[in-house]
Amino acid sequence: MGSADGRDLAYRGCVWVYRYAVVTGANKGIGLETVRQLASQGITVVLTARDEKRGTEATRKLHQFGLSNVVFHQLDVLDSLSIQSLAKFIQDTFGRLDILVNNAGTSGAEADEKDIEALNIDPADWQLSGKARNLVQGIITHTYEQGEACINTNYYGVKRVTESFLPLLQLSPTGARIVNVSSCRGELKRIPIQHIRNELQDIKTLSEEGIDATLKKFLHDLKDNALEANEWTMMLPSYSISKASLNAYTRILAKKYPNMLINCVHPGFVNTDLTLHNGILTVEEGAKGSVMLALLPDTGP
Ligand SMILES: NC(=O)c1ccc[n+]([C@@H]2O[C@H](COP(=O)([O-])OP(=O)(O)OC[C@H]3O[C@@H](n4cnc5c(N)ncnc54)[C@H](OP(=O)(O)O)[C@@H]3O)[C@@H](O)[C@H]2O)c1
Repeated sequence: MGSADGRDLAYRGCVWVYRYAVVTGANKGIGLETVRQLASQGITVVLTARDEKRGTEATRKLHQFGLSNVVFHQLDVLDSLSIQSLAKFIQDTFGRLDILVNNAGTSGAEADEKDIEALNIDPADWQLSGKARNLVQGIITHTYEQGEACINTNYYGVKRVTESFLPLLQLSPTGARIVNVSSCRGELKRIPIQHIRNELQDIKTLSEEGIDATLKKFLHDLKDNALEANEWTMMLPSYSISKASLNAYTRILAKKYPNMLINCVHPGFVNTDLTLHNGILTVEEGAKGSVMLALLPDTGP
């Protein structure tokens, strides 16, 4: 329901309340579009970006479209001080948080857009690890530094942000929604090592310590140039394990906080910088899943 000033209102315990959201990595791509769609529904959204200039510019554009309910705040998910500063801003400005969309992400790999374009890969083949891997071998590079940054952003970045915001999320009268933007690359079936697949899928024994141990082993093998020998997936290896770990962490969180609706989503293969613009979906289509999960009714999963 909308209020007279167009802001979203939710009915809770005989009172109408506004909802407040944070989207990480929102200066471009799926994150920016997620902010636009949430703000269009009247939610007050904090658009965050690690780069102040890129973030304020993106916010200015949304203001030009009449979305004055978008506020900018700097956030680098690798930087604890930056996370604390945003948490303090939310506490002081809104007093709580209703929706957290952990969207910021990086591929952990590098390739020249033109080299990939020249391969003219069928979009359907990108979804098939084996086929795409053979096609792009030698064109996509993944160093230890890129892999470490990828895991630190896609997995530990989400953990850092979520843990810092949990006290604010617990104050949501609507039962907070947490959306972790994952990827089909993190599907368990894409992990060739059976005992790691088993560990990551068993909710009874799943633990953050167990995920840490898996990531430590992965980074050790990446450093030793031993990924293939130790049977890790070779299609975007760091990205894949970071998102598989994120899925597992989402399940741990959902079990621990049954009063919140905590989910992860694969946005599809979207035309953004991350996919070097090979994706077949528009950002409008790619953001739909995040927005749907952010606005789940109370009966949602
Ligand atoms: N596009 C797809 O097909 C696809 C498929 C599956 C999953 N995903 C996931 O969707 C999410 C969004 O990706 P996208 O395709 O929209 O990519 P994108 O256009 O490259 O956007 C990624 C965003 O993350 C930000 N970011 C990176 N490191 C950060 C950090 N340390 N702190 C804060 N922000 C940081 C980037 O900021 P800068 O501009 O400063 O670099 C950028 O705003 C990611 O989690 C990605 O893994 C995308």
